[in-house]
Amino acid sequence: MSYLKLDINYANKTLKKDILPMQQKVCEIHEMIHNKTGLGNDFLGWVDLPNKIQKELPQITEAANKIRSQSEVLVVIGIGGSYLGAQAGLDYLNNYEAPHVEVIFAGHQLSSTYLSKLVRYLEYREFSINVISKSGTTTEPAIAFRVLKELIEKKYGKDAKDRIYVTTDQKRGALYQLAVKEDYQRFVIPDDVGGRFSVLTAVGLLPLAAAGYNLNEIISGAMHAQNRYFIDKLEDNEAYQYAVLRYLYYTEGFKVEAIASYDYELSYLAEWWKQLFGESEGKDGKALFPASANFTTDLHSLGQYFQDGPRFLIETVLSVDKVASDIKIPFVEEDNDGLNYLAGEKLSYVNKQAMLGTIQAHHEGGVPIMEIKIPELTPYSFGYLVYFFEKACAMSAYLLEVNPFDQPGVEKYKKNMFKLLGKPGHDK
Ligand code: PA5
Repeated sequence: MSYLKLDINYANKTLKKDILPMQQKVCEIHEMIHNKTGLGNDFLGWVDLPNKIQKELPQITEAANKIRSQSEVLVVIGIGGSYLGAQAGLDYLNNYEAPHVEVIFAGHQLSSTYLSKLVRYLEYREFSINVISKSGTTTEPAIAFRVLKELIEKKYGKDAKDRIYVTTDQKRGALYQLAVKEDYQRFVIPDDVGGRFSVLTAVGLLPLAAAGYNLNEIISGAMHAQNRYFIDKLEDNEAYQYAVLRYLYYTEGFKVEAIASYDYELSYLAEWWKQLFGESEGKDGKALFPASANFTTDLHSLGQYFQDGPRFLIETVLSVDKVASDIKIPFVEEDNDGLNYLAGEKLSYVNKQAMLGTIQAHHEGGVPIMEIKIPELTPYSFGYLVYFFEKACAMSAYLLEVNPFDQPGVEKYKKNMFKLLGKPGHDK
């Protein structure tokens, strides 16, 4: 049984007429994914990762316990796929139980203000560092690590080495070499798992475990999804249905898919989703542009555009059935704000009505809407959802006939930046 539901009542499409006719093509791509015969087939290690990663959980948990016993703050250094999954998970689960360690990210941008403020903040706190980079050469995290390594060494002397955790390639790269030389504890990003598909490795799992979240639950959820989406029968595979729908909209001329959620905790999951689909599909002049909206906040900014702007937009609502905690709206005698008609109602009820009203309005305004419904925000559902989107993304990219696992376009800005910075080997 599926743990999530894909609701297409407002999608202007039906399973029978629109989705199921794609069964043959889906079967071919399913074979390509599972027999590793498609483009980028060196990077399909994420397909059975939930099973494989289990043996590493004790080691990750042990390191997380050590971090918690030594530090108030864990600084996680990384960018792109070496950052977004952990940030998404932390926000997603923030409602569930209080984090045991404050996790602060660094190296995910180049703001000098941010890094200098962080250095000042850390001077008076016990901290550890988890530096994450598969290539080991990415500029943003490399600079942040250089700065924070100096700080941690100044603060803890030779004991600093016991507070630095490196997540990188098994045997290559500058970070790997440094970790070996300095004898830092190392975690491996497998060769066949690309950055944006690596959240269920130590990349995402160590920061989440340090914050106190249960890795076994996350991986159980992911395994459930791995088994569920192992089947090629479209009728029973929501990940493939979602991929097919995206493809159909794209071929009809839609240009943007906005993922919309009404739960604040999902903001960073949307950022992770944007990277997953944006970097995997945006190639050869193809693909839907992945955007996001946090409702109801953005109903007061982007709502007008959704309702009345150009009709090149599809909306995917990520909805959560059961909130973790709720609050009642109080009764006030004078009723100056006119809210007594809601007195005694729960805030989640108001949010739900806002969602239903908006779905209807946007649909009437000509926006096709898919709804991905999950029961609640738990470690289990996080693992499930991550795998759901990864599998859907691979299917979706292969339907577009692009390689889901490379990112050649990302190099262009780097070349220009290196030239401007005068990096050796990059002529000014
Ligand atoms: O998905 C990807 O491969 C990228 O987004 C990378 O994760 C990102 O560029 C960071 O790379 P690295 O982990 O090598 O520092």
